Amino acid sequence: MTITTCIFDAYGTLFDVNAAARQVSGEPGQERLAELWPNLAQDWRRKQLEYSWLRTIAGRFIDFWEITQDSLDWAMDAHGLHDAALRARLLAVYKELPAYPEVPAMLKALKDAGKTVAILSNGSKAMLQAAVRSAGIGEYLDDVISVDEVHLYKPHMRVYDLVTDLFDVPQTEMMFVSSNGWDTAGAAGYGFATVWVNRAGDPPDRLWATPHRILRDLTTIPELA
Ligand code: LAC
Repeated sequence: MTITTCIFDAYGTLFDVNAAARQVSGEPGQERLAELWPNLAQDWRRKQLEYSWLRTIAGRFIDFWEITQDSLDWAMDAHGLHDAALRARLLAVYKELPAYPEVPAMLKALKDAGKTVAILSNGSKAMLQAAVRSAGIGEYLDDVISVDEVHLYKPHMRVYDLVTDLFDVPQTEMMFVSSNGWDTAGAAGYGFATVWVNRAGDPPDRLWATPHRILRDLTTIPELA
């Protein structure tokens, strides 16, 4: 396949979604969080995704930053964490999530090879801009596409249209990369060549389409494009 355009999911794919809870758990006075941060991070992410899908089904869009706060509130409540300062700290770090270590070199290699590179994310435009800036990867991105434009969340088909609306290339020249199995089902079903980055070694999702390639991290992406 001749790939001219590489599209990346953001949270969990380029940016480490667990980093907020992990990082804050190491700060002074966070002994309670240090014990349970992996569970908090998992519940926060699970509820964030559930709320995005439920709001799409119900036609009740609010932006991903609001969903991120609602889902954190649920997760903190579930773990008996009633601490406004901790909430504020977790959200502040989430706004500036680090990229996975291999991301800058991988994106640079794609740009050096002349590829078009962009993000397609459920994140709000403001969240994505802040994360791209703090990770220092803006120079490698041709565009950052947010669902803010359509008020629907992936894996709704209309969201993947945003990519083909913007870039005038056939779907077969697009490579879509995500660490979310449900997102790769959306993209593969839409017609993109799709890579699932399965960092956790999860079983494959049983959905309507399967990814074309499965990798453990993003290091070898430039070899596929
Ligand atoms: C994204 C999240 C949902 O679209 O992974 O960036």
